Amino acid sequence: MAKIIAIANQKGGVGKTTSTVNLAASLAAHGQRVLLVDLDPQGNATMGSGVDKHKLESSVYHVLLGIRTLPAARVRSEAGKFDVLPSNRDLAGAEVELVDMDNREARLRFQLNTVTDEYDYILIDCPPTLNLLTLNGLCAARAVMIPMQCEYYALEGLSDLVNTIRRVRSSLNAELEIQGLLRTMFDPRSTLAQQVSAQLQQHFGDKVYQTVIPRNVRLAEAPSYGVPVLLHDKHSKGAQAYLALAAELLGKSVQGDENGKTE
Ligand SMILES: Nc1ncnc2c1ncn2[C@@H]1O[C@H](COP(=O)(O)OP(=O)(O)OP(=O)(O)O)[C@@H](O)[C@H]1O
Ligand SMILES: [Mg+2]
Repeated sequence: MAKIIAIANQKGGVGKTTSTVNLAASLAAHGQRVLLVDLDPQGNATMGSGVDKHKLESSVYHVLLGIRTLPAARVRSEAGKFDVLPSNRDLAGAEVELVDMDNREARLRFQLNTVTDEYDYILIDCPPTLNLLTLNGLCAARAVMIPMQCEYYALEGLSDLVNTIRRVRSSLNAELEIQGLLRTMFDPRSTLAQQVSAQLQQHFGDKVYQTVIPRNVRLAEAPSYGVPVLLHDKHSKGAQAYLALAAELLGKSVQGDENGKTE
């Protein structure tokens, strides 16, 4: 059975998609069978995996609505060596259509159940809202990974997410747990980043991943080539950090730089 992880934070631009794509590729590089589910109508994870969102015959939208099976809609990221359940703007309409459906929050969970034995990890890239799509992600997952930037407003809004996770746990998915908070775009030279990071560790203890993702230009460049950073520049600090995060998840020794030094 696959370990299913939703990558969620309703705050925009914190590194959800970058983390999903690069963690998927890094887990694959560690020999894991991975499915990436793009639950965002922006389709950034789809494009970042090297799959053209404009040319999809079917997508996660069709799977959620029960028009296609998951095996019929998934595609391969040749670059990342993982499977993708892709997304594009079609998905923006899904929320309205899902509202009147039975088990509207559990549609993704039912679909993932059909393929869970084929994978070691299923990573779900959630949109930057706490909407029905994100609820589908949280309902399907066993664990939530919360990427966040260590900046002034980072902690604001975190309580909304934590409350949503609590609500999902009590009504839809008792097994859901926060696996960890991931510090992204980290600049160790910033005093504020270090203060917020220390605060996070105080509040959340070992729920904060040891691995820190540094701000790294290679991570920002890779999507424009339609590849995970491992293919763009394997030796970059960004690529090494996501390999270390994958290793941390797999319970292996972590080789990343704790301080997440930038290049
Ligand atoms: N560690 C990093 N170093 C440098 N740039 C980064 C890093 N992580 C993400 N970025 C860049 O920051 C921007 C936002 O990242 P990303 O798209 O992963 O965030 P997101 O949380 O998925 O955004 P959204 O909320 O819109 O879905 C992108 O341009 C991305 O390339
Ligand atoms: Mg995103």
